[in-house]
Amino acid sequence: MTTTTDIREYLLSNSPWVNRDKTVDTVKIGDPSKPIAKAGVCWYSAFKTIRAAHEAGCQLLICHEPTFWEHAAPEQHWRNEEPGLTKRKFLEQTGMVILRAHDSWDNWPDIGIRDSWAAGLGLTNRVREGTSLRWHAMYRVPNQTLRQFAQYVADRIAPLGEDSVQVIGDPDMIVSKPALGVGCAVPDKEMVDFGADVLIMCYDGASYWSTRERIAEMGVGVITVEHGTSEMWGMENLRKHLSEVFKDVEFRYFAEHPRTWTVKGSPR
Ligand SMILES: [Fe+2]
Repeated sequence: MTTTTDIREYLLSNSPWVNRDKTVDTVKIGDPSKPIAKAGVCWYSAFKTIRAAHEAGCQLLICHEPTFWEHAAPEQHWRNEEPGLTKRKFLEQTGMVILRAHDSWDNWPDIGIRDSWAAGLGLTNRVREGTSLRWHAMYRVPNQTLRQFAQYVADRIAPLGEDSVQVIGDPDMIVSKPALGVGCAVPDKEMVDFGADVLIMCYDGASYWSTRERIAEMGVGVITVEHGTSEMWGMENLRKHLSEVFKDVEFRYFAEHPRTWTVKGSPR
C-alpha cells in the first residue's frame, strides 16, 4: 500500500532541481509510514480545509504552502501558540499526516504551478521563458488595452473565488505580451527586458514600492492577484497527476481557505 513516504519520494526523485537537504517539502506532522487509502490535496492547509479533508476520510493532506505559517521546514513557532495549538491538537487527535509539496511542484514541467497558472488563464502561446528554470514566462495575446486584459484575467479567476484584480498603469495602453511567474517568484525586470508589457503578480510576492511601483515606472502594466489564485490550478493538477501515479489512493482536491473580497468606495 502507498504511504506518505512513497508519495514524497516520488515527488522529490522527479524534481532534480530540489535540494533534498534544504527543501521545505517535508512531513509536517503525523506518521509517514502509515498506508494511505484517501488523500486530500490543497493549496493552503487552513484549519477549515484540514477539517473538511478529515471529514471526507482523508488520512493525508498534501498542501503547497505551510500549515503553521512559517516557510522554513520545521514550522515550529506557531505550533504551541494559537491558532496553531488548536490546529496541532486536532491533527494529533485525528492522526492525519500533512505533507508539503512546494519546491517540487513549483517548477514541475507542464502541469506544475507556473504552467497550470498560464493554462488556467488561457495563455497558450508561450513566446519566451525566463533564464531560471520554469520560474517565469512570457506569452502572446491579441493586442488589447490594459483595461481589457485586466478584465479578461478577472473573469478567468472568478471561479477560483477571487472577485477582482488590482491594476497599475494607463488603462488605455495597448498590451500583447503578458508575463507571469510561480507564486511569490513574480516576473520582474528580466521579463520586461524580454519585451513583456504587462506583468501578472501576486500580492505576497510584489509589495508596492519595492516591486509594483518600480515596474510601473518602466511603463509596464501590473496586474495583481492573491497568491492562492495563482497556484490553485497547479494544485488541482497535482491531485490529478498523483491519482494517475498512485492508483490505489483516492485523491481529492480541497480549497476551503478563506478568500479575500473587495469593497469599492463610492464618492460622497
Ligand atoms: Fe506559493
